[in-house]
Amino acid sequence: MLSYRHAYHAGNFADVMKHVVLTSVLKYMARKDGALCYIDTHAGAGGYDLSSVRSRKTDESSFGISKLWNLKDAPESISDYLDLVRRYNPSGNLVRYPGSPWLASKLLRPKDRLVLCELHTSDFPALDEMFTHDRRVHCHAEDGYRFSKGLVPPLERRGLVLMDPSYELRDEYETAISTVGALHRQFSNGTYALWYPILDERRTTSLRRRIDEMKIRDVLHLELRVTDRKSLPGMYGCGMIVVNPPWTLRGAMESALPCLVSELGMNRMAAFQIEQWMAE
Ligand SMILES: C[S@@+](CC[C@H](N)C(=O)[O-])C[C@H]1O[C@@H](n2cnc3c(N)ncnc32)[C@H](O)[C@@H]1O
Repeated sequence: MLSYRHAYHAGNFADVMKHVVLTSVLKYMARKDGALCYIDTHAGAGGYDLSSVRSRKTDESSFGISKLWNLKDAPESISDYLDLVRRYNPSGNLVRYPGSPWLASKLLRPKDRLVLCELHTSDFPALDEMFTHDRRVHCHAEDGYRFSKGLVPPLERRGLVLMDPSYELRDEYETAISTVGALHRQFSNGTYALWYPILDERRTTSLRRRIDEMKIRDVLHLELRVTDRKSLPGMYGCGMIVVNPPWTLRGAMESALPCLVSELGMNRMAAFQIEQWMAE
């Protein structure tokens, strides 16, 4: 039984970083003519009410999207993302936060396809309902790790897999990275974006070792720390491993991540990191 509910965390600093990356990747991919397949292995509920009891209990969005809501003159990838979040809040007040499926659905075109997996029995119906009238979208109450292996290579031969696990299970870092490896073996031209929390620096090292072992080339590794472990027990940063990133992503993140550090950082320990990993 899954206990994680994204409603407690929607719009936090980790969502902001993940969704800025997602926006930048899909905006670039949708510039090319060919149809795209977007696979979200851990889709969540699709959107979240920031005034809900769950959201107010943790108030995580106050340290994430709320800090950026009125930002002017942001780097392009952040302002594209903010335009979408504002579109999701037509009243002009920040009261709701969009999930990755909604953001992707706005960045993709009529010819593209979205395949969304969500296992939670309460979040799946909300996700499914959000896209009832969107024929591009296919929602599945399935295990995203297993189900995605049957989806690649997609008919479109172009696509992005977003893997955004809740890391509730002890071996989930390994499950996630080995699933990226398996999908990449089946569809080596695909783009893969794996999100992970930073709670313990050793985990990042082991992700890197696994990428090397799997001989995956062309990886952009992005990290954002809002502080350090001493100041914030629990998640004090997050990262994304992007396999086969659009060539524009590095430049976009070189502008976006310093801005996120300055807007979301809690003290002078806030930092970002951008690395290109090439397997030997
Ligand atoms: C971090 S949340 C996803 C948030 C979403 N990607 C977004 O950015 O808006 C992770 C979600 O994965 C779901 N989940 C956990 N294990 C899963 C699995 N094996 N397959 C599919 N969904 C899973 C959880 O119920 C939760 O809703």
